[in-house]
Amino acid sequence: MTAVDDVSHDPIVYLNGELVPLSEARVPVLDRGFIFGDGIYEVAPLYAGHAGRRTPFRFEQHLARLARSVGKIGIANPFDDAGWRSLIARVVAANEAHAGLRADQDAIAYIQVTRGVAKRGHAFPAGIQPTVFVMVTPLNLPSETQRAQGVRCVTAEDRRWLNCDIKSVSLLGNVLMAQYAAENDAFETIQFRDGVLTEGSSSNVWVVKDGVLAAPPRSHKILEGIRYGLIEALAQECGIRFEAREISEAELRAADEIIVSSATKEVLPVTQLDGQAVGKGRPGAVFAALYAGYQRAKAKEAQHAQQGVENESRENITA
Ligand code: PDD
Repeated sequence: MTAVDDVSHDPIVYLNGELVPLSEARVPVLDRGFIFGDGIYEVAPLYAGHAGRRTPFRFEQHLARLARSVGKIGIANPFDDAGWRSLIARVVAANEAHAGLRADQDAIAYIQVTRGVAKRGHAFPAGIQPTVFVMVTPLNLPSETQRAQGVRCVTAEDRRWLNCDIKSVSLLGNVLMAQYAAENDAFETIQFRDGVLTEGSSSNVWVVKDGVLAAPPRSHKILEGIRYGLIEALAQECGIRFEAREISEAELRAADEIIVSSATKEVLPVTQLDGQAVGKGRPGAVFAALYAGYQRAKAKEAQHAQQGVENESRENITA
């Protein structure tokens, strides 16, 4: 990999009104994100598109979740949707122009908003400005091998707080679960709360039995992934029955298929759980259908974005 391929060496990031190299971006130590984990974040894919046109995927839904997250913790949203879109476009353009991000590279937008900087004290301080940070880096999707063979997962008790619906930067519980997976040579840790499936350390979990797809219902016990609604729609499109319901540990262990989903994983089959084969030990038919559907959804959004550009240029010509 050349330095130009690898923009992770020093992408251009946005911090509080300025575009700066990541290596120069600084926040004060009294930022409440640092002191209390008092902030939220978003992670959204920006797929490389036709003729260098990048498509933010399901971006409306990502921005809606961002608005819900800030709302739930009492931070005024620093931008409206149009403001966030143009900010992301600015950061993308800066990285393409100055930090080696190629137009044909898929990317990921990381957005973080914290309550801001104030003298240390737990309750919300009055009149402070939120800290806004945006970083766009290449998206490394799971490998062909991971998709073809599936990944190994381990399980653990979910010991996180009960506001998992907020995409909070207070991620210690998730970090410990990711580390547990890493130490056990696994891709992800799947969690149970009181014997009932919740989610992975950074993914939603889907279970297939006898051709029926199931996932834990939307609640404060899981983060509703942006892929949640998409997978529901894809299941319907593919004629796969879907049930949002409580799933017991025994059911997970007896599943024909297990699938994890997230912005950076898309959909990925789990073929080993705690050292035991899942179903036949290889990716199943429901995974194959959802993966194909996911790629169609990407192509459709890219096409819409392209049509938008063509309509815009037609309007400009006729104006
Ligand atoms: N994580 N659950 C948790 C706890 C997550 O952290 C994530 C995503 C998901 C899936 O959400 P989505 O489909 O919107 O990516 C579910 C992101 C990718 C992260 O923290 O990097």
